[in-house]
Amino acid sequence: MKRSIFCVIAMCYVCLFLTTVFAQNQTAFFPGQRWEDVDGNTINAHGGGMLFHKGRYYWYGENRPEKGFTTEVGIGVYSSDDLLNWKDEGVALAVSEEKGSPIERGCIMERPKVIYNELTKKYVMLFHLELKGQGYAAARVGFAVAEQPEGPFTFIRSLRPNAGKWPADFSEQDIRKALTLDEADYPDWWTQPWRKAIADGLLLKRDIEGGQMSRDMTVFVDDDGKAYHIFSAEENLTLNLAELTSDYLDYTGKYIRIAPGGQNEAPTIFKRQGVYWLITSGCTGWEPNEARMFRSTSLWGPWEQLPNPFVGENANKTFFSQGTYIFKKENTEDGYIFMADRWMPASLKYSPYVWLPIDFDGEGCPVIKWRDQWSPEELK
Ligand code: GAL
Repeated sequence: MKRSIFCVIAMCYVCLFLTTVFAQNQTAFFPGQRWEDVDGNTINAHGGGMLFHKGRYYWYGENRPEKGFTTEVGIGVYSSDDLLNWKDEGVALAVSEEKGSPIERGCIMERPKVIYNELTKKYVMLFHLELKGQGYAAARVGFAVAEQPEGPFTFIRSLRPNAGKWPADFSEQDIRKALTLDEADYPDWWTQPWRKAIADGLLLKRDIEGGQMSRDMTVFVDDDGKAYHIFSAEENLTLNLAELTSDYLDYTGKYIRIAPGGQNEAPTIFKRQGVYWLITSGCTGWEPNEARMFRSTSLWGPWEQLPNPFVGENANKTFFSQGTYIFKKENTEDGYIFMADRWMPASLKYSPYVWLPIDFDGEGCPVIKWRDQWSPEELK
């Protein structure tokens, strides 16, 4: 009897040891390579975002099928305490089985970002939502909330932001000018007059009534706790930066346009030493392109465009990836990580991730270099 108790205890120790050894086996980032969770399954969290809460990192992302482009499961969430070894926490926001629901299975949920609201003590998720069977025409943002970071998140609603509102930097005169614009007068895109009309608000005006289009997106919480939704509007031609209400579940109505007509997608943003940095991509669908960078000392602009921060071979293709989020590792001074996806449309589920550290040059400008391998300890 004693012997068998001893055997059971010994077996338990062996199991615990093996679990620890195999669970903590990732010691570095390998950008662009297959990344498995602690159970050995490929991490399925694309277009993701990061939340650090109570000593743990939560990585939210699109759960993508092996084949196809629609959302069949929902938004997934993984957790980690070292950024390398991720535990699958399951589905944070599930698709609905109800016919006609905005998040009905077969819709498209992209680029989820979760932020914690100190006032309501709730976790708020914003994501790009396309309605089932409508391709990318709906261009909406979805809101969901949860009581805990792993979820389950409850879908609240979807909408197009800022219906009836003009941008904060539009004067009465700008509004009057925009109101005279008519799409029928500009049948050809990319002509000089068309570009001018876009900048003057041709599509902004078109969408005032129903709200601005909202596709690729991120969310940013400033030091004062105010949150902002940054998204591609106006047929992906113009970025909008919109202030959220104090519960993060709606818009205050204050927003600006960034780079009108500049065709920016995949917005990512961070703040360092009082300066806001915005890194975006161009618009080429799943194909990689050259990133863009903007700088401002106020979220309300003016935003100044600077050269692409990526350097070295394939920098003009963002190392064959597209950004999704930037965050600073806890307890570092300057440890910013650029998270990106290397999209594989033939099997989105297996699209690898490209995570790279952000360096800063003598002038404090972000510089991103390729690394085959690197470790979080390198972040200072
Ligand atoms: C990309 C976008 C992705 C996804 C894709 C669909 O430009 O960044 O999030 O929407 O287009 O083609």
